[in-house]
Amino acid sequence: MRSRWLAAPGFVCIAALATMLSAYSGASSSEGNSPIQPVAFRHTIHVDTLKMNCLYCHFSANKSFDPGLPAVGTCMGCHTVIAGSSEGNKAEIQKLAGFWNKKQPVPWIRIHKLPEYVHFPHMRHVNAGVTCQTCHGQIQNMKQVYQASSLNMGWCINCHIGQSNPPFRARYDCASCHY
Ligand code: HEC
Ligand code: HEC
Ligand code: HEC
Ligand code: HEC
Ligand code: HEC
Repeated sequence: MRSRWLAAPGFVCIAALATMLSAYSGASSSEGNSPIQPVAFRHTIHVDTLKMNCLYCHFSANKSFDPGLPAVGTCMGCHTVIAGSSEGNKAEIQKLAGFWNKKQPVPWIRIHKLPEYVHFPHMRHVNAGVTCQTCHGQIQNMKQVYQASSLNMGWCINCHIGQSNPPFRARYDCASCHY
């Protein structure tokens, strides 16, 4: 019990230090970042209306350090057949088919990006039961994806010390995220 009380101000200190350091950081991508993508893909239609699972497209989110974005082949299973019901949808699906026919990947613009010196095992978070929405926000309602969390050090540590909702716990010594 005693050591717990002694440790408590320590948590707060590290969290405060982290927030201060982070405030100066220009290294990570920023909250609210929402680039216009080469194909106007909407999560609303695919996740909310069609009820597709996140892992159908982001299949390595629970397996790798860096999940990556879906290959065109993942889309074409449906879109060789589904051409779109409105003019707008047809035009966007044609752009998608254009990349497929040229055997090119869609040059998606990356949104969430941590600096290289940060160690972030994406899969361990997913496998520990932290939901995608806890970190990425309500993706299924976004007409265009934006970065919902700051991704700064204070944000990481706040969760690792048990201050997120719902609460989790993980290591928060400097070497766990930096080596
Ligand atoms: C039909 C396939 C598909 C499904 C299902 C899907 N996504 Fe995506 N996701 C994409 C594509 C394509 C992109 C890149 C274009 C964009 O940003 O909209 C993307 C982008 C993202 C990004 C931004 C990646 C970056 O560059 O940082 C996140 C985060 C994300 N998806 C999370 C989710 C979550 C969470 C779910 C489930 C609620 C989900 N996705 C379901 C295809 C899908
Ligand atoms: C603990 C927070 C957290 C959780 C939970 C989480 N992510 Fe992420 N995600 C991140 C961070 C941080 C990045 C940026 C990683 C980097 O730059 O190394 C990221 C990156 C991504 C990317 C972009 C990868 C790329 O190469 O462009 C996608 C897609 C993604 N996450 C999807 C998901 C999906 C789907 C889920 C749920 C199955 C999920 N994430 C759960 C924090 C999280
Ligand atoms: C399970 C089948 C399925 C898969 C897989 C799928 N889609 Fe779709 N997609 C649909 C359906 C259904 C519609 C609605 C078509 C309509 O009624 O206009 C749609 C609509 C679209 C549209 C037009 C509406 C919008 O979202 O702006 C685009 C663009 C699109 N999909 C891109 C993609 C991309 C990119 C992928 C792969 C990452 C993908 N789709 C994977 C079924 C799918
Ligand atoms: C839970 C993960 C995590 C832990 C633990 C952690 N950091 Fe970080 N740190 C990050 C992330 C993520 C960034 C990059 C984003 C940012 O700059 O806020 C970062 C950035 C930094 C930076 C660069 C800030 C800048 O302005 O560019 C320094 C310095 C740093 N950390 C030092 C530390 C020290 C010292 C500790 C131990 C007290 C520590 N970190 C513990 C995740 C962590
Ligand atoms: C919402 C909660 C949450 C957020 C936000 C979060 N993490 Fe984590 N993190 C966890 C949990 C829970 C675990 C423990 C997973 C396990 O037990 O395997 C974990 C584990 C880790 C580990 C492995 C630690 C070990 O034991 O080896 C690293 C490294 C890590 N996180 C880095 C980060 C970084 C960097 C960020 C910010 C960019 C971050 N985390 C943001 C919840 C979070």
